[in-house]
Amino acid sequence: MTAIANPSVSIQDLSLNFGAISVLETLNLDVAEGEFIVLLGPSGCGKSTLLNCIAGLLDISDGRIFIKGKNVTWEEPKDRGIGMVFQSYALYPQMTVERNLSFGLRVAGLPKEEIAKRIARASEILQIEPLLQRKPAALSGGQRQRVAIGRALVRDVDVFLFDEPLSNLDAKLRSELRVEIKLLHRKLENTMIYVTHDQIEAMTLADRIAVMKGGVIQQLDAPQTIYNRPVNRFVAGFLGSPAMNFLEGRLEKDGSNWHFAVEDVRIPLSTYTFEREPTPVPAVFGIRPEHVAFNSGAGWPFTATTSVEVVEPMGSDTLVWLKLGGQNFTVRVTSERTPNNADTVNIGFDPMRASLFDAQTGNRL
Ligand SMILES: Nc1ncnc2c1ncn2[C@@H]1O[C@H](COP(=O)(O)OP(=O)(O)OP(=O)(O)O)[C@@H](O)[C@H]1O
Ligand SMILES: [Mg+2]
Repeated sequence: MTAIANPSVSIQDLSLNFGAISVLETLNLDVAEGEFIVLLGPSGCGKSTLLNCIAGLLDISDGRIFIKGKNVTWEEPKDRGIGMVFQSYALYPQMTVERNLSFGLRVAGLPKEEIAKRIARASEILQIEPLLQRKPAALSGGQRQRVAIGRALVRDVDVFLFDEPLSNLDAKLRSELRVEIKLLHRKLENTMIYVTHDQIEAMTLADRIAVMKGGVIQQLDAPQTIYNRPVNRFVAGFLGSPAMNFLEGRLEKDGSNWHFAVEDVRIPLSTYTFEREPTPVPAVFGIRPEHVAFNSGAGWPFTATTSVEVVEPMGSDTLVWLKLGGQNFTVRVTSERTPNNADTVNIGFDPMRASLFDAQTGNRL
């Protein structure tokens, strides 16, 4: 992990236990000034716990947290320079939108004119000016979430923390607000740490994604790097829909050339970039469904003949299920000319696009 000079948020050797259960163990993460970091991972992997530690809503068991160079490990949440937006909007139902937005500022004793100025700015950015005199019950889900974001916005903070802010919204609204959050980040240029288990949100919003599993950051990289060069089988399988194909077999050497072998299939690996000098081990060969093509005689390093088992049209593209080396294998095609059930087809791909993993450790080879 390359060090970041003057990180906006720096988490150092953070551990958190709930009683005897360790949820986070010596976790390290540096977030650059103005960076949009997404914490991505399956349910229960510790995303919210990590965010709540940064916010100061949980007392950590060990480690240190710095925000803007200041050690805030034992600071109150309100003194950390953070604004947090939750999945449940947590608006006060009896207050108007305007009162909801100003509540924290009034408690903090800010002058009236300053409060008015900040509310005007936030409601303009979020386009909620017409809603200011309504109560939350008279708002749609998307409008409520905008108000919740507005409440963080008026606090004029350095760092925004979002915990699955869009997961209560329907798919259409979710994608609209996703774009708004992206524009908001571009406009404000604040540091943002955003929790989600939605890989589309992660891929589209993040400067860098931290993929988590069991309280451990598995990989911290730009979205394209995570997608194209996953460090282990877990990361490879977690991102991508339909999921990456995995073939279980062996890494073998033939003269000076490595190949991947399963049943009668031999996949040459001369175009594959190994992490380090390989050894003959049980291995998993992974390739994404969109990196496989049909019927093109375009001189692929690997081709095979097989038969189609199931064809699934998905609207913009089609998923074709077949067998390779006796194992399930899917191909994603966008062309009009898709094969039919039971057709015999030629498939081809370049192992340059593949990911190879050690079968035992799951680590990239
Ligand atoms: N107050 C608590 N006491 C004991 N265990 C807890 C507590 N809060 C969370 N946990 C456990 O810590 C682990 C991480 O929980 P966390 O809420 O951080 O997961 P998450 O990644 O945010 O999941 P989700 O995507 O479902 O929100 C889980 O196993 C959870 O059961
Ligand atoms: Mg959570």
